[in-house]
Amino acid sequence: VTIDAILLVGGEGTRLRPLTLTTPKPMLPVAGVPLVAHQLARARDAGIDHVVLATSYKAELFEAAFGDGSAMGLELEYVTEVEPLGTGGGIRNVLDRLRAAPEDPVAVFNGDVLSAHDLSEQIRVHVAGGAAVTLHLSEVSDPRAYGCVPTDPTGRVTDFLEKTPDPVTNRINAGCYVFRRAVIDSIPAGRPVSVERETFPALLAEGALLLGFLDAGYWLDLGTPEAFVQGSRDMVRGVIGSSALTGEPGDSLVLDGASVAPDAAVVGGSCVGVGARVGPGAVVDGSVLFAGAFVDAGATVRDSAVGRDAVVGTDALVEGAVLGDGAHLGSGNELLRGARLWPSAVIADRSLRFSPGP
Ligand code: GDD
Ligand code: MG
Repeated sequence: VTIDAILLVGGEGTRLRPLTLTTPKPMLPVAGVPLVAHQLARARDAGIDHVVLATSYKAELFEAAFGDGSAMGLELEYVTEVEPLGTGGGIRNVLDRLRAAPEDPVAVFNGDVLSAHDLSEQIRVHVAGGAAVTLHLSEVSDPRAYGCVPTDPTGRVTDFLEKTPDPVTNRINAGCYVFRRAVIDSIPAGRPVSVERETFPALLAEGALLLGFLDAGYWLDLGTPEAFVQGSRDMVRGVIGSSALTGEPGDSLVLDGASVAPDAAVVGGSCVGVGARVGPGAVVDGSVLFAGAFVDAGATVRDSAVGRDAVVGTDALVEGAVLGDGAHLGSGNELLRGARLWPSAVIADRSLRFSPGP
C-alpha cells in the first residue's frame, strides 16, 4: 500500500529576501541540506513513499535537486503552477497524480517547516476519527503570524482564524495536514484557493469533522531570516534530528571542501557550507555560511546568514543580518539588527557603521 503526500513549495518566500531572490525558501540549506530534504526524509520515515511537489516560484530547481527521488528512497513527481494557485489551489492542482482512493488519507506539508511531530500518529488519529481533515497543531508564544485553531475538548476544530490580531488560543496550524482524498476533490479547480482562508472555514461551516492533532515536539516555521538561522543552528546541535543528515550533532558543522583557519572560532551551531572559508581570528557564531562564502581575517559573524559566494571583509561585524548571494561587505564595516544586503551589492571598505567606531 502506498501513502501519498503533497509538498507545497510554490511560495515566493518574500520575508526571506534577499536569500529567496536566488533560492526558493524550501531549498535553503538547513544544516547543509535543503530544508525540504529534511521534510522528505521525515515523510519517508513515516511510511510515505510517493510525494508530489506542488511548485511554482523557481520550480525547475526542485527537480534538478531531487530528480525522481530514488536516491532518497521515494517516488517524486512535480506539478508546476504557472500562476500560483495558493495553498488550496496547489493541493487541488495535483489531484490527478494521487493514487489514494477517495476515502484514503493524503498527507500535505507546507514546505518551510521543521517539525519533529509524530506524523504516523497524526495519520492514525485521522483514520480512527474518520475526519475530513486532521491538522497538526503546535503551541507558540505569539500566535498572531499563524492560523489560530481552537478545538473542543474532544479535539474537534471549532474555528480557523488565519493571522488574526486577537488569537483566541496559542494553538496554531503547524502546516501539516492529513486530508481525506475526497475532500481534495471538492476544492474548486483552476483558480487560486487558500485552504486557510477558504477551504477550512467552508468545511467548518458545512459541519465537516476537522480534528486537531496537538504535538509538543520541536516545531519551527523558517519564514524569516531569524527563524531560518535558528532552524539551521538547532539542527546542527541536534535540538531536532533528521535522517537526511549523516554526521553527529555538534557545536558546528563544516561541510566538505570548506576551510576554517586553526585560530578561527566556528561555534553556536554554525554551519560552514561547501567550499566556504573562514579566515584567521574570525568568529562565526550561530550562523549559516552558504557554499563558497568567505569570512575574512578578524571578522565576526553572529546569528546571521551569509549567501553563496558572499564576502565578509577583514574585521567586519555582522550580527542579526543577511548577505545575499555574491554580496561583498568591505573591511571594517558593521551590518547589524536585521540589515539585508542585496545579491552582488558592494559596500566599500570602512563605509557603513551602526556605532561611532574607533
Ligand atoms: N504550490 C504552491 N502555490 N505553494 C504555495 C503557494 C502557491 O501559490 N503559496 C504558498 N505556498 C507554499 C509555500 O511555499 C510554503 O511552503 C507554504 O505554502 C506556506 O506558505 P507561507 O507563505 O510560508 O505561509 P505562512 O507561513 O504565512 O502561513 C502558513 O503556515 C503557517 C505555519 O507555518 C499557514 O498555513 C498558517 O495557517 C500556518 O500557521
Ligand atoms: Mg511559512
